[in-house]
Amino acid sequence: MKYRKIGKTELEVSEISLGCWTMGGLSWVNGNANGWANVDEDEVIAGIKAALDAGVNHFDNADVYGNGRAERMLARALNKLGVRSDSVVIATKVGHFPGTAAHAYEPAHIRHQCEQSLTNLQRDHIDIYYFHHGSFGPHLEDAAATLDALVAAGKVRVKGQSAYSTADFEMAIPVVRPAALQSWAHALDDQFLRPGARLQELMTEWGCTFVAFSPLAQGRLLDKYDPTRPPDFDPGDHRLGSHAFSAEALAALKPKLEALKARFGPSTEDLSAVAQRYILNLDHVACVIPGFRNERQVKCNLSAVNRELSPDDMDFIRETLR
Ligand SMILES: NC(=O)c1ccc[n+]([C@@H]2O[C@H](COP(=O)([O-])OP(=O)(O)OC[C@H]3O[C@@H](n4cnc5c(N)ncnc54)[C@H](OP(=O)(O)O)[C@@H]3O)[C@@H](O)[C@H]2O)c1
Repeated sequence: MKYRKIGKTELEVSEISLGCWTMGGLSWVNGNANGWANVDEDEVIAGIKAALDAGVNHFDNADVYGNGRAERMLARALNKLGVRSDSVVIATKVGHFPGTAAHAYEPAHIRHQCEQSLTNLQRDHIDIYYFHHGSFGPHLEDAAATLDALVAAGKVRVKGQSAYSTADFEMAIPVVRPAALQSWAHALDDQFLRPGARLQELMTEWGCTFVAFSPLAQGRLLDKYDPTRPPDFDPGDHRLGSHAFSAEALAALKPKLEALKARFGPSTEDLSAVAQRYILNLDHVACVIPGFRNERQVKCNLSAVNRELSPDDMDFIRETLR
Protein backbone atom coordinates (compact mmCIF):
# COMPACT_ATOMS: atom_id res chain seq x y z
CA MET A 1 0.00 0.00 0.00
CA LYS A 2 1.22 3.50 -0.77
CA TYR A 3 0.30 6.59 1.25
CA ARG A 4 -0.31 10.17 0.14
CA LYS A 5 -0.43 13.45 2.05
CA ILE A 6 -3.65 15.36 2.72
CA GLY A 7 -2.96 18.86 1.41
CA LYS A 8 0.15 20.34 3.01
CA THR A 9 -0.55 18.65 6.35
CA GLU A 10 1.41 15.82 7.96
CA LEU A 11 -1.58 13.48 7.59
CA GLU A 12 -0.96 10.56 5.24
CA VAL A 13 -3.72 8.29 3.97
CA SER A 14 -3.64 4.99 2.11
CA GLU A 15 -4.27 5.35 -1.63
CA ILE A 16 -7.09 2.86 -1.19
CA SER A 17 -9.04 3.96 1.86
CA LEU A 18 -12.54 2.89 2.95
CA GLY A 19 -15.91 4.62 2.79
CA CYS A 20 -18.24 3.88 5.71
CA TRP A 21 -21.61 5.01 4.34
CA THR A 22 -22.85 1.43 3.84
CA MET A 23 -22.33 0.82 7.58
CA GLY A 24 -25.26 3.09 8.33
CA GLY A 25 -27.66 0.52 6.83
CA LEU A 26 -31.12 1.60 5.73
CA SER A 27 -31.94 5.16 6.71
CA TRP A 28 -33.91 8.23 5.79
CA VAL A 29 -32.99 11.91 6.07
CA ASN A 30 -35.77 14.47 5.91
CA GLY A 31 -37.98 11.76 4.42
CA ASN A 32 -35.49 10.84 1.68
CA ALA A 33 -33.90 7.40 1.38
CA ASN A 34 -30.25 7.71 2.32
CA GLY A 35 -29.06 4.20 3.11
CA TRP A 36 -28.07 0.73 2.06
CA ALA A 37 -30.00 -2.53 2.59
CA ASN A 38 -28.82 -5.84 4.09
CA VAL A 39 -25.75 -4.65 5.95
CA ASP A 40 -24.42 -7.20 8.44
CA GLU A 41 -22.06 -5.95 11.17
CA ASP A 42 -19.96 -9.14 11.35
CA GLU A 43 -19.43 -9.03 7.60
CA VAL A 44 -18.47 -5.36 7.80
CA ILE A 45 -15.96 -6.10 10.57
CA ALA A 46 -14.38 -8.89 8.47
CA GLY A 47 -14.07 -6.33 5.65
CA ILE A 48 -12.39 -3.81 7.94
CA LYS A 49 -9.94 -6.47 9.15
CA ALA A 50 -8.99 -7.36 5.58
CA ALA A 51 -8.45 -3.70 4.82
CA LEU A 52 -6.29 -3.06 7.89
CA ASP A 53 -4.22 -6.19 7.14
CA ALA A 54 -3.50 -4.74 3.69
CA GLY A 55 -2.43 -1.34 5.07
CA VAL A 56 -5.64 0.67 4.72
CA ASN A 57 -5.37 3.42 7.33
CA HIS A 58 -8.20 5.86 6.53
CA PHE A 59 -11.95 5.53 7.13
CA ASP A 60 -14.41 8.07 5.76
CA ASN A 61 -17.56 8.47 7.84
CA ALA A 62 -20.33 11.06 8.45
CA ASP A 63 -22.83 11.92 11.17
CA VAL A 64 -25.64 11.28 8.68
CA TYR A 65 -24.63 7.72 7.71
CA GLY A 66 -27.36 5.78 9.51
CA ASN A 67 -27.78 8.88 11.70
CA GLY A 68 -24.73 7.98 13.85
CA ARG A 69 -24.93 4.21 13.34
CA ALA A 70 -21.93 4.09 10.97
CA GLU A 71 -19.71 6.05 13.39
CA ARG A 72 -20.68 3.80 16.28
CA MET A 73 -20.17 0.66 14.20
CA LEU A 74 -16.69 1.79 13.15
CA ALA A 75 -15.72 2.34 16.80
CA ARG A 76 -17.08 -1.11 17.77
CA ALA A 77 -15.24 -2.73 14.86
CA LEU A 78 -11.88 -1.20 15.79
CA ASN A 79 -12.41 -2.19 19.45
CA LYS A 80 -13.31 -5.73 18.48
CA LEU A 81 -10.25 -6.02 16.24
CA GLY A 82 -8.00 -4.65 19.01
CA VAL A 83 -6.96 -1.67 16.88
CA ARG A 84 -6.09 1.56 18.67
CA SER A 85 -8.42 4.14 17.21
CA ASP A 86 -5.65 6.76 17.13
CA SER A 87 -3.51 4.50 14.94
CA VAL A 88 -5.85 5.13 12.00
CA VAL A 89 -7.12 8.25 10.26
CA ILE A 90 -10.83 8.84 10.83
CA ALA A 91 -12.76 11.40 8.83
CA THR A 92 -16.33 12.39 9.52
CA LYS A 93 -18.69 15.13 8.36
CA VAL A 94 -21.39 17.55 9.44
CA GLY A 95 -24.03 19.16 7.24
CA HIS A 96 -26.66 16.72 6.01
CA PHE A 97 -28.17 15.92 9.43
CA PRO A 98 -29.85 19.07 10.78
CA GLY A 99 -31.43 17.52 13.89
CA THR A 100 -33.79 20.18 15.22
CA ALA A 101 -31.72 23.11 13.96
CA ALA A 102 -33.10 25.35 11.24
CA HIS A 103 -29.82 24.85 9.33
CA ALA A 104 -27.15 22.20 9.87
CA TYR A 105 -24.39 24.83 9.65
CA GLU A 106 -25.58 26.87 12.62
CA PRO A 107 -22.52 27.12 14.89
CA ALA A 108 -24.26 25.54 17.91
CA HIS A 109 -25.33 22.59 15.78
CA ILE A 110 -21.81 22.10 14.37
CA ARG A 111 -20.38 22.12 17.90
CA HIS A 112 -23.06 19.66 19.04
CA GLN A 113 -22.54 17.29 16.11
CA CYS A 114 -18.78 17.39 16.62
CA GLU A 115 -19.22 16.32 20.28
CA GLN A 116 -21.70 13.62 19.23
CA SER A 117 -19.33 12.29 16.55
CA LEU A 118 -16.50 12.18 19.13
CA THR A 119 -18.78 10.21 21.46
CA ASN A 120 -19.89 7.87 18.66
CA LEU A 121 -16.32 7.32 17.48
CA GLN A 122 -15.04 6.97 21.10
CA ARG A 123 -12.30 9.51 20.39
CA ASP A 124 -11.04 12.85 21.64
CA HIS A 125 -10.35 14.20 18.16
CA ILE A 126 -11.44 13.86 14.53
CA ASP A 127 -8.61 13.62 12.00
CA ILE A 128 -10.49 15.19 9.08
CA TYR A 129 -13.75 17.05 9.73
CA TYR A 130 -15.66 17.98 6.59
CA PHE A 131 -18.48 20.31 5.82
CA HIS A 132 -20.56 17.74 3.93
CA HIS A 133 -21.99 20.07 1.24
CA GLY A 134 -21.69 23.60 -0.07
CA SER A 135 -25.18 24.94 0.69
CA PHE A 136 -24.20 27.19 3.59
CA GLY A 137 -27.09 29.63 3.32
CA PRO A 138 -26.18 32.60 5.51
CA HIS A 139 -23.71 30.52 7.58
CA LEU A 140 -20.49 30.27 5.54
CA GLU A 141 -18.45 32.70 7.65
CA ASP A 142 -19.74 31.63 11.07
CA ALA A 143 -19.50 27.92 10.17
CA ALA A 144 -15.89 28.41 9.05
CA ALA A 145 -15.07 30.28 12.27
CA THR A 146 -16.68 27.46 14.29
CA LEU A 147 -14.52 24.87 12.51
CA ASP A 148 -11.41 26.97 13.19
CA ALA A 149 -12.35 27.05 16.88
CA LEU A 150 -12.70 23.24 16.90
CA VAL A 151 -9.19 22.99 15.41
CA ALA A 152 -7.85 25.41 18.03
CA ALA A 153 -9.49 23.31 20.77
CA GLY A 154 -7.71 20.18 19.48
CA LYS A 155 -10.97 18.43 18.56
CA VAL A 156 -10.28 18.55 14.81
CA ARG A 157 -6.88 18.04 13.15
CA VAL A 158 -7.52 18.83 9.50
CA LYS A 159 -10.36 20.72 7.79
CA GLY A 160 -12.28 19.28 4.84
CA GLN A 161 -14.88 20.53 2.39
CA SER A 162 -17.19 18.20 0.47
CA ALA A 163 -19.33 19.72 -2.29
CA TYR A 164 -21.15 18.82 -5.47
CA SER A 165 -20.35 21.72 -7.80
CA THR A 166 -17.33 23.77 -8.78
CA ALA A 167 -19.25 26.92 -7.86
CA ASP A 168 -19.77 25.66 -4.29
CA PHE A 169 -16.07 24.76 -3.97
CA GLU A 170 -15.08 28.14 -5.39
CA MET A 171 -17.22 29.93 -2.80
CA ALA A 172 -16.22 27.79 0.20
CA ILE A 173 -12.48 27.21 -0.24
CA PRO A 174 -11.25 30.79 0.40
CA VAL A 175 -13.35 31.01 3.58
CA VAL A 176 -13.05 27.47 5.00
CA ARG A 177 -9.43 26.97 3.79
CA PRO A 178 -9.69 23.16 3.82
CA ALA A 179 -6.77 20.79 3.19
CA ALA A 180 -9.06 18.00 1.95
CA LEU A 181 -11.71 18.37 -0.73
CA GLN A 182 -14.19 15.59 -1.35
CA SER A 183 -16.59 14.87 -4.17
CA TRP A 184 -17.46 12.13 -6.61
CA ALA A 185 -14.88 11.00 -9.11
CA HIS A 186 -15.18 7.91 -11.23
CA ALA A 187 -14.19 6.99 -14.75
CA LEU A 188 -17.71 7.83 -16.03
CA ASP A 189 -17.56 11.35 -14.57
CA ASP A 190 -14.24 12.93 -13.61
CA GLN A 191 -15.40 16.52 -14.18
CA PHE A 192 -13.67 17.87 -11.04
CA LEU A 193 -10.30 16.27 -11.85
CA ARG A 194 -9.81 16.16 -15.60
CA PRO A 195 -6.92 18.21 -16.97
CA GLY A 196 -7.93 21.88 -17.17
CA ALA A 197 -10.75 21.58 -14.62
CA ARG A 198 -11.25 24.73 -12.52
CA LEU A 199 -11.02 22.62 -9.36
CA GLN A 200 -7.51 21.52 -10.37
CA GLU A 201 -6.48 25.21 -10.49
CA LEU A 202 -8.12 25.85 -7.11
CA MET A 203 -6.33 22.87 -5.54
CA THR A 204 -2.98 24.15 -6.82
CA GLU A 205 -3.74 27.67 -5.58
CA TRP A 206 -4.95 26.62 -2.11
CA GLY A 207 -2.76 23.55 -1.53
CA CYS A 208 -5.65 21.07 -1.26
CA THR A 209 -5.84 17.40 -2.18
CA PHE A 210 -8.89 15.44 -3.31
CA VAL A 211 -10.62 12.48 -1.66
CA ALA A 212 -12.62 10.67 -4.35
CA PHE A 213 -15.99 9.19 -3.43
CA SER A 214 -18.02 6.70 -5.51
CA PRO A 215 -14.89 5.53 -7.38
CA LEU A 216 -16.79 2.42 -8.54
CA ALA A 217 -19.85 4.45 -9.58
CA GLN A 218 -21.63 2.55 -6.78
CA GLY A 219 -20.89 -0.78 -8.48
CA ARG A 220 -21.89 0.22 -12.01
CA LEU A 221 -18.26 0.06 -13.18
CA LEU A 222 -17.98 -3.55 -11.99
CA ASP A 223 -20.37 -5.00 -14.60
CA LYS A 224 -22.42 -6.54 -11.79
CA TYR A 225 -25.84 -5.65 -13.20
CA ASP A 226 -27.77 -7.33 -16.01
CA PRO A 227 -29.59 -4.65 -18.04
CA THR A 228 -32.39 -7.14 -18.80
CA ARG A 229 -32.96 -7.56 -15.04
CA PRO A 230 -32.12 -4.18 -13.46
CA PRO A 231 -31.70 -4.16 -9.67
CA ASP A 232 -34.76 -3.71 -7.49
CA PHE A 233 -33.43 -1.89 -4.43
CA ASP A 234 -35.17 -1.95 -1.04
CA PRO A 235 -37.10 1.06 0.29
CA GLY A 236 -34.58 3.17 2.20
CA ASP A 237 -31.78 2.30 -0.25
CA HIS A 238 -30.83 5.59 -1.90
CA ARG A 239 -30.37 3.86 -5.29
CA LEU A 240 -34.08 2.95 -5.52
CA GLY A 241 -35.53 4.76 -8.53
CA SER A 242 -32.18 6.12 -9.70
CA HIS A 243 -31.97 6.47 -13.49
CA ALA A 244 -28.31 5.37 -13.34
CA PHE A 245 -29.46 1.86 -12.38
CA SER A 246 -32.32 1.67 -14.92
CA ALA A 247 -32.41 -0.95 -17.69
CA GLU A 248 -31.81 1.78 -20.26
CA ALA A 249 -28.73 3.26 -18.54
CA LEU A 250 -27.24 -0.16 -17.75
CA ALA A 251 -27.75 -1.28 -21.37
CA ALA A 252 -25.90 1.81 -22.63
CA LEU A 253 -23.03 1.08 -20.25
CA LYS A 254 -22.70 -2.64 -21.02
CA PRO A 255 -20.70 -2.45 -24.31
CA LYS A 256 -18.31 0.07 -22.75
CA LEU A 257 -17.61 -2.32 -19.88
CA GLU A 258 -17.08 -5.14 -22.40
CA ALA A 259 -14.44 -2.98 -24.10
CA LEU A 260 -12.68 -2.43 -20.77
CA LYS A 261 -12.78 -6.18 -20.04
CA ALA A 262 -11.31 -7.00 -23.45
CA ARG A 263 -8.33 -4.73 -22.75
CA PHE A 264 -7.75 -5.10 -19.00
CA GLY A 265 -9.14 -8.53 -18.08
CA PRO A 266 -12.61 -9.91 -17.42
CA SER A 267 -12.77 -10.25 -13.64
CA THR A 268 -14.45 -7.96 -11.12
CA GLU A 269 -10.97 -7.48 -9.64
CA ASP A 270 -9.69 -6.20 -12.99
CA LEU A 271 -12.59 -3.76 -13.40
CA SER A 272 -12.34 -2.55 -9.80
CA ALA A 273 -8.58 -2.06 -10.00
CA VAL A 274 -8.80 -0.17 -13.31
CA ALA A 275 -11.63 2.05 -12.06
CA GLN A 276 -9.74 3.07 -8.93
CA ARG A 277 -6.27 3.43 -10.50
CA TYR A 278 -7.78 5.65 -13.21
CA ILE A 279 -8.81 8.12 -10.49
CA LEU A 280 -5.60 7.73 -8.48
CA ASN A 281 -3.58 8.71 -11.58
CA LEU A 282 -5.30 12.12 -11.81
CA ASP A 283 -3.59 15.19 -10.34
CA HIS A 284 -4.14 16.15 -6.69
CA VAL A 285 -5.90 12.90 -5.74
CA ALA A 286 -4.98 11.75 -2.23
CA CYS A 287 -7.06 8.57 -2.18
CA VAL A 288 -10.18 6.77 -3.30
CA ILE A 289 -12.71 5.71 -0.66
CA PRO A 290 -14.65 2.74 -2.08
CA GLY A 291 -17.69 1.67 -0.08
CA PHE A 292 -18.01 -1.96 0.94
CA ARG A 293 -20.31 -4.38 2.76
CA ASN A 294 -18.09 -7.45 3.28
CA GLU A 295 -14.61 -8.96 3.13
CA ARG A 296 -15.08 -10.20 -0.45
CA GLN A 297 -15.69 -6.68 -1.73
CA VAL A 298 -12.79 -5.19 0.24
CA LYS A 299 -10.32 -7.83 -0.97
CA CYS A 300 -11.53 -7.41 -4.53
CA ASN A 301 -11.12 -3.64 -4.38
CA LEU A 302 -7.63 -3.93 -2.89
CA SER A 303 -6.56 -5.37 -6.24
CA ALA A 304 -6.06 -1.72 -7.23
CA VAL A 305 -2.98 -1.54 -4.98
CA ASN A 306 -0.67 -3.13 -7.54
CA ARG A 307 -2.45 -2.14 -10.74
CA GLU A 308 -0.69 0.30 -13.04
CA LEU A 309 -2.13 2.14 -16.03
CA SER A 310 -0.07 3.69 -18.83
CA PRO A 311 -0.95 7.05 -20.42
CA ASP A 312 -2.39 5.04 -23.35
CA ASP A 313 -4.54 3.04 -20.91
CA MET A 314 -5.79 6.30 -19.37
CA ASP A 315 -6.74 7.64 -22.83
CA PHE A 316 -8.44 4.35 -23.69
CA ILE A 317 -10.58 4.43 -20.52
CA ARG A 318 -11.47 8.10 -21.04
CA GLU A 319 -12.48 7.57 -24.66
CA THR A 320 -14.34 4.32 -24.02
CA LEU A 321 -16.48 5.64 -21.18
CA ARG A 322 -17.36 9.05 -22.65
N1 LIG B 1 -19.18 13.48 0.58
C1 LIG B 1 -20.29 12.93 0.12
O1 LIG B 1 -21.30 13.59 -0.07
C2 LIG B 1 -20.28 11.47 -0.21
C3 LIG B 1 -21.27 10.95 -1.07
C4 LIG B 1 -21.22 9.59 -1.38
C5 LIG B 1 -20.24 8.79 -0.83
N2 LIG B 1 -19.31 9.31 0.03
C6 LIG B 1 -18.26 8.46 0.64
O2 LIG B 1 -17.67 7.66 -0.38
C7 LIG B 1 -17.79 6.27 -0.05
C8 LIG B 1 -17.94 5.46 -1.30
O3 LIG B 1 -18.92 5.97 -2.17
P1 LIG B 1 -20.20 5.15 -2.65
O4 LIG B 1 -20.57 4.16 -1.64
O5 LIG B 1 -21.18 6.18 -3.10
O6 LIG B 1 -19.74 4.43 -4.01
P2 LIG B 1 -18.71 3.29 -4.44
O7 LIG B 1 -17.57 3.23 -3.55
O8 LIG B 1 -18.46 3.57 -5.89
O9 LIG B 1 -19.63 1.99 -4.37
C9 LIG B 1 -19.72 1.25 -3.20
C10 LIG B 1 -20.74 0.13 -3.36
O10 LIG B 1 -20.47 -0.67 -4.50
C11 LIG B 1 -20.69 -2.05 -4.19
N3 LIG B 1 -19.35 -2.70 -4.26
C12 LIG B 1 -18.18 -2.23 -3.74
N4 LIG B 1 -17.18 -3.08 -4.02
C13 LIG B 1 -17.71 -4.10 -4.70
C14 LIG B 1 -17.16 -5.28 -5.26
N5 LIG B 1 -15.86 -5.53 -5.19
N6 LIG B 1 -17.99 -6.12 -5.90
C15 LIG B 1 -19.32 -5.85 -6.02
N7 LIG B 1 -19.90 -4.74 -5.50
C16 LIG B 1 -19.10 -3.87 -4.85
C17 LIG B 1 -21.28 -2.10 -2.79
O11 LIG B 1 -22.71 -1.97 -2.82
P3 LIG B 1 -23.71 -3.20 -3.11
O12 LIG B 1 -23.11 -4.43 -2.51
O13 LIG B 1 -25.00 -2.79 -2.52
O14 LIG B 1 -23.80 -3.29 -4.63
C18 LIG B 1 -20.69 -0.83 -2.19
O15 LIG B 1 -21.40 -0.35 -1.11
C19 LIG B 1 -18.98 6.22 0.92
O16 LIG B 1 -18.91 5.10 1.76
C20 LIG B 1 -18.78 7.49 1.70
O17 LIG B 1 -17.78 7.32 2.69
C21 LIG B 1 -19.31 10.65 0.33
